[in-house]
Amino acid sequence: MEKIIDKKEPGSPDGQDSKLEELFLNELKELYAAEQHQLRVLPMLKKAVSSQKLSNVLASHLDDTRMQINRLEMIFKLLGSGAEAHTSEAILGITREAEMVIEGTRAGTATRDAGIVVAAQKLEHYEITSYGSLAQHASTLDHDDIAELLELSLLEEKEMDELLTAVAENYINKEASRE
Ligand SMILES: [Fe+2]
Repeated sequence: MEKIIDKKEPGSPDGQDSKLEELFLNELKELYAAEQHQLRVLPMLKKAVSSQKLSNVLASHLDDTRMQINRLEMIFKLLGSGAEAHTSEAILGITREAEMVIEGTRAGTATRDAGIVVAAQKLEHYEITSYGSLAQHASTLDHDDIAELLELSLLEEKEMDELLTAVAENYINKEASRE
């Protein structure tokens, strides 16, 4: 396993990086890759939807995503590590599913929009789990400044998830049931 940080950390009295610290950095790299993936997937989804409300929600999360990538880069810096992305099998699978929704539905239908909401929420839930766990680990490892940055992104992801649910329930799903 590679060394994470050179300086002695409060949680590691012998100066060695703890296993949790290694796990934390690896998870950060996967989340960094997930956010970069999302930067490419969101415009693809936005282009494929017909609901203006859904399009707006996806567009606003694109701005959040850029900010979240900046935060992760700040975190790598605080840890004294270079920003590195490790793409997980999970994120590749979720992205492939989103592409399949577009391939498997007709353009201009609410059914396609409903499928795209599901695909976007799968991405959000992946990120909510990752940010939630990493914020906890950061606190445990006494990286309180990092925990705060992760909490900010976690809140944005939760808000996005709620917006998607609201758009689906109030506008898209009923229309899709009539197609
Ligand atoms: Fe995100």
